[in-house]
Amino acid sequence: MTKINAMWQQYPQLSTELMATLTLIEQNIKTHDPQVTAAIIDMIHAGGKLLRPAYCLLFSQFHETDRQKMIALAAAVETLHTATLIHDDIVDESNLRRNQPTIQAQFGKDTAVYAGDYLFVVCFKLLAHYASDLRSIQVNSRSMEKILNGEIHQMKMRYQLSMTLDDYLLQIKGKTAQLFSTACFIGAYESGNSQSFARQSEQIGMAIGTAFQIVDDILDYQQSSTILGKPVLEDVRQGVYSAPLVLVLQQANPELLALLQKRAAMTAADCEQVRQLVVAAGGVTAAQQLATKYTEHALTAIHKLPAGQPRVDLENLTQQLLTRNY
Ligand code: IPE
Ligand code: IPE
Ligand code: MG
Ligand code: MG
Repeated sequence: MTKINAMWQQYPQLSTELMATLTLIEQNIKTHDPQVTAAIIDMIHAGGKLLRPAYCLLFSQFHETDRQKMIALAAAVETLHTATLIHDDIVDESNLRRNQPTIQAQFGKDTAVYAGDYLFVVCFKLLAHYASDLRSIQVNSRSMEKILNGEIHQMKMRYQLSMTLDDYLLQIKGKTAQLFSTACFIGAYESGNSQSFARQSEQIGMAIGTAFQIVDDILDYQQSSTILGKPVLEDVRQGVYSAPLVLVLQQANPELLALLQKRAAMTAADCEQVRQLVVAAGGVTAAQQLATKYTEHALTAIHKLPAGQPRVDLENLTQQLLTRNY
């Protein structure tokens, strides 16, 4: 029996469709190596939150449509997300994802690169088979390009003490918000809504994804690795400065700057000290205000959509993500 996060219990239709999404992904993983296949399937069942397919499915509920097709498109979106996570964990040298060893940690870098590549292929196979309009494939390709550019921008800005909030926002809009946005577009458009409705949905997805990444970066300063299922405070040591830190960087606290200048030589104790200094300087509070701003922006736009259960669910889920603690 496929298991999904308990948060979906309050959304019965969505919950059933998310389980079907996971099953369909699993059915599509068939590499020539049983070990690689098993590793990917294991990761898919390790308890990802399934937010992107959930938004795709919710935006598809505003129009009468073939649910099986929408489940397949939601599966394509989640497959793309999983591929980026596998590759991200290679780049970030991370050993833990969804509370289990990463594919690289279990099988080495080569297998992890191929597993990620394979999932990109599955994503496009699903899209090519189920999307009714070439535009969805164009949007998806463009989205992949923007994710990549967000990651490259982040790489280029590593250890830059002059990094601004605008730099940070540019990075997260690319690396994270873009895929939320595409999920919403595909859900809205492929279910038969107008292009203008789909564009509106895309904008909403951008705000939701931006808030989501800011909250993710706040949790990095607040939560334990066990609760998040991935390492914490690694970003700062690797020179990836996220919202809580960026928002207090201009204060130029000499103690904080001295720690950051140690770069990759920072110890766990140094990272912990950075965390405390950032919290004390108000970085987490300021980041919470920023996440609230993007969430409110999304909620205002969602409220202009046609009334009904899909809108209520979108409002509840988006509100819920702002206060998530895992
Ligand atoms: C992790 O995304 C990568 C980020 C953009 C922060 P999620 O937190 O949605 O990952 P899973 O799928 O639930 O593991
Ligand atoms: C997530 O990157 C974005 C992508 C996978 C493209 P991060 O490195 O910020 O996310 P976590 O913290 O590993 O989940
Ligand atoms: Mg990472
Ligand atoms: Mg990363």
